[in-house]
Amino acid sequence: MKIMITGVNGFTGQHLFRILAGKGFEVHGISRGPVRFALPERGFYHPVELTNVRTVIDCFDLVKPDVVIHTAAMSKPDECHQNPQACLLQNVEATRHLLEASRPHPVHFIYFSTDFIFGEHGPHSEDDLPAPLNFYGESKWKAEQLVEASGITATIVRPVFIYGNQYPGMRPSFIQWVKQQLQTGKPIQVVTDQLRTPTYVNDLAMGLQQIITYQRQGVYHLAGKDIVSPCEMAFAVADVWGLDATLIEPVTADVFPEPVRRAKQSGLQIQKAVRELSYQPLSFREALQEIHAAET
Ligand SMILES: NC(=O)c1ccc[n+]([C@@H]2O[C@H](COP(=O)([O-])OP(=O)(O)OC[C@H]3O[C@@H](n4cnc5c(N)ncnc54)[C@H](OP(=O)(O)O)[C@@H]3O)[C@@H](O)[C@H]2O)c1
Repeated sequence: MKIMITGVNGFTGQHLFRILAGKGFEVHGISRGPVRFALPERGFYHPVELTNVRTVIDCFDLVKPDVVIHTAAMSKPDECHQNPQACLLQNVEATRHLLEASRPHPVHFIYFSTDFIFGEHGPHSEDDLPAPLNFYGESKWKAEQLVEASGITATIVRPVFIYGNQYPGMRPSFIQWVKQQLQTGKPIQVVTDQLRTPTYVNDLAMGLQQIITYQRQGVYHLAGKDIVSPCEMAFAVADVWGLDATLIEPVTADVFPEPVRRAKQSGLQIQKAVRELSYQPLSFREALQEIHAAET
């Protein structure tokens, strides 16, 4: 089976590339510019700018993928707020181009959405009504609607606050940021009043593999099973890595006057994935222990 993954120079894309190639799939990664990491065995890379529909179609005609996992996006809410036109191009138009390129092929299209399509009162189920609080969330919701209207065999997955190991050429996730600050003796302020259900990237890969194997369509929330604040996450990192937790200062979100609204109580319910995909994510602490063990 040939799997095409978009955005492989990004955090999630690179992880999925490694994991799925390691499971024996032929994986074709696409991203902008040169590849930023060593390609695994059974891994191929194609530099493709997704906002250019012609190059997207050419790449599909060359690769003829069975499955497309679309992770590429302008993924930072602040950037989307500051540059809404670029956000629409990268999050909505790029998705439209991929759907157009998929149409002539018998492809299973898997779109990466986010908990940011919802507002307050989480954790949300797949059936809750979207109500994005910021432009990033709006753009991802618009792209979801394109996927649903396309008539293509498709699945929408919604992860939350993705974390995992950091490999060469990869940006750090929140875990590495906390670790690096504490290891260098730098105090950090971390918010207590935003609740999330963070997704461990290895669990995400496991859920995706089930979706691919059983050709599941529809919407699936692939999140963690714990509801935690960033501050609780930071304390857990300090504990697992044996770092100085007194450097962590719990604060409320109003300490950071951000231009972008974020839900205080977000997060996603995972019962549907547990039931239909046998999705069994690790607890937040178990995942940190696994990340720690993989470093040594
Ligand atoms: N990170 C999270 O906590 C989180 C939570 C929920 C959902 N998600 C969703 O999960 C997906 C992956 O997130 P992530 O944080 O791993 O993203 P990321 O690290 O920001 O990576 C995104 C990648 O997409 C590439 N890309 C963007 N626009 C492109 C284009 N027009 N053509 C080709 N490549 C393009 C970027 O290229 P450059 O490197 O050149 O910019 C980058 O390598 C996104 O769809 C995001 O919305 C993320």
